[in-house]
Amino acid sequence: MEGEEYVMNAAEQVASKRNAGYRAAGAVEDGMVVGLGTGSTVFFAMERLGERMAREGLSIAGVPTSYQAAIRARRYGIGLTSLDEHPELDIAIDGADQVDPALRLIKGRGAALLREKCVCDAAKKVLIVVDPTKMVDTLNAPVPVEVLPFALAPVSRRLAALGADPVLREGVKKDGPIVTDNGNFILDCDFKAIADPGRLEAEMASIPGVLECGLFSAYGEKITVIVGEEKGCSVVSLQ
Ligand code: A5P
Repeated sequence: MEGEEYVMNAAEQVASKRNAGYRAAGAVEDGMVVGLGTGSTVFFAMERLGERMAREGLSIAGVPTSYQAAIRARRYGIGLTSLDEHPELDIAIDGADQVDPALRLIKGRGAALLREKCVCDAAKKVLIVVDPTKMVDTLNAPVPVEVLPFALAPVSRRLAALGADPVLREGVKKDGPIVTDNGNFILDCDFKAIADPGRLEAEMASIPGVLECGLFSAYGEKITVIVGEEKGCSVVSLQ
């Protein structure tokens, strides 16, 4: 799985995501408060949770990490709550863009990284659902960084000084920069291979105007990665 790029066709990838999402939904127990991540793989987990609610009478509440997650959860009949009501979550289910062997992540392709990190931090246990193309030896994808629009120029300079070439994320079907669910901009920062994700995450966090970055390097102990395959799943944890 690691050391070389994993190639899948579109149908295999959808089957893998479905298997990962369904497996994660199977780990949710009655009465749990569940962090609901953003992206196409978590959709499958929500779909299965909706089925379990209808079939088994499973009763849960979800804390969505984005408008997308909230809209989808409502469609599947999952009642929503908030971190105000539940500052500690039983479990969170979320996707990722890259995962390394120490279970450090790059997230934020969908620009939901800020709320996703709040939910990850609040959860006792985190299930990361991915297809095999996300598993890498070394994190090397561009890191999304959520930036206060007021501080865009100085933050860009500081990120460039750390070795990135920050690119302001542009909208699709919207002219100009995308605006996150929190009213901020995203800078995609390509650092190439990231030798020390924890250090880079801390350096970015120290820049005034950076709200959050998409490196998740501190949660390996509570993360379980469910790697969907065309048939079945493999499960990776540090325990
Ligand atoms: C959202 O901002 C990201 O962190 C997603 O969790 C990530 O992009 C996973 O999306 P897919 O499941 O669609 O690959």
